[in-house]
Amino acid sequence: MIRNLMTAAKAKGEREVLMPEVPHSLQRSFALDLLEGLSQRPKRVPSVYLYDKRGSELFRQITESEAYYLTQSEQEILTAFKNEISEYVPRKSFNLIELGSGDGQKTVLLIECFLKKQLQFEYITLDISPESVDGLTLSLEEMFSPGLKVRGIVAEYFDGLRWLAGENASRNLTLFLGSNIGNFEPHATRRFLRCLWECLRPRDQVLIGFDLKKDIEVMNRAYNDPEGITREFNLNLLDRINRELGGEFERENFVYYGSYQVATGAVESYLVSTRKQEVFIRELDTVFSFEAWEPIHTECSHKFLESEIACLAEETGFEVRKNFFDERRYFVDSLWRVIKPRRAWERI
Ligand code: AVJ
Repeated sequence: MIRNLMTAAKAKGEREVLMPEVPHSLQRSFALDLLEGLSQRPKRVPSVYLYDKRGSELFRQITESEAYYLTQSEQEILTAFKNEISEYVPRKSFNLIELGSGDGQKTVLLIECFLKKQLQFEYITLDISPESVDGLTLSLEEMFSPGLKVRGIVAEYFDGLRWLAGENASRNLTLFLGSNIGNFEPHATRRFLRCLWECLRPRDQVLIGFDLKKDIEVMNRAYNDPEGITREFNLNLLDRINRELGGEFERENFVYYGSYQVATGAVESYLVSTRKQEVFIRELDTVFSFEAWEPIHTECSHKFLESEIACLAEETGFEVRKNFFDERRYFVDSLWRVIKPRRAWERI
């Protein structure tokens, strides 16, 4: 499959999909992470596993739901401020790097604007999923060819960023949109930002989407949409375990519960077993026991105060250049710049 991707990319000329590192076997880590997570108390499954093909499609549907204000708000921000954002980017050529692009809908707004202003840049999407990288590079090529240079890198974020730093010396603007950062636990958020900082050069910039703390009803509604897509998105995790690892989950025996927790500042999502039951997973050769009303934690979606964002930047070696808010102040795209001492060899 990897080989096929490479050949397909070459055949289409401009479009390039690079796999600098040995790709990670997602299937194997799924089995291992599941075994580890379901052996913990409370039981948990890392939220990355919500996003298989069906899960990604369901997430896309969530973003179209009226209740899920996050995507609307960020679209509004990028539409309103794309011109202003373009004033902050380097005048000489730069890499516009996106981590975890999804369907790239929001990025198209920025790309269009940057192209119109004749900025010199290459768009690089970096993701662990070959399908998502391939899909996005293809659709952007179709949309903007031949005006836009598009590159896909299939790798873990930091392997990809480090590889890129060695490969070209262009300045970077790295996008991490959609409040994907909210999925990390607080310690992991800091570690992520520190790793990001480490991969970048002084004066490189990042644009990070943070969902803000707001009316609790509004937050709860976003994760309990009346269409029931979020519920389906979570239950799909059980179907995925059944499909890929020979699990015997019966989805009727679980309910979805997602609600904002003031103590953690996050919407915490769970699948709760409605009765005592045993579930066999063939690939793990293990039976997992559930008590009635025992939860499986599936995701946390952290919400931020403006002051918490400022602290995060400061603690991890960045300065906040500008916060771009939507009208309702539900969401912010925060533009940061790397500050770090120049290395000795760069001073010569
Ligand atoms: C894509 C991680 C930002 O946490 O809001 C949407 C995923 N989960 N509804 C989020 C999600 C349930 C989403 N992120």
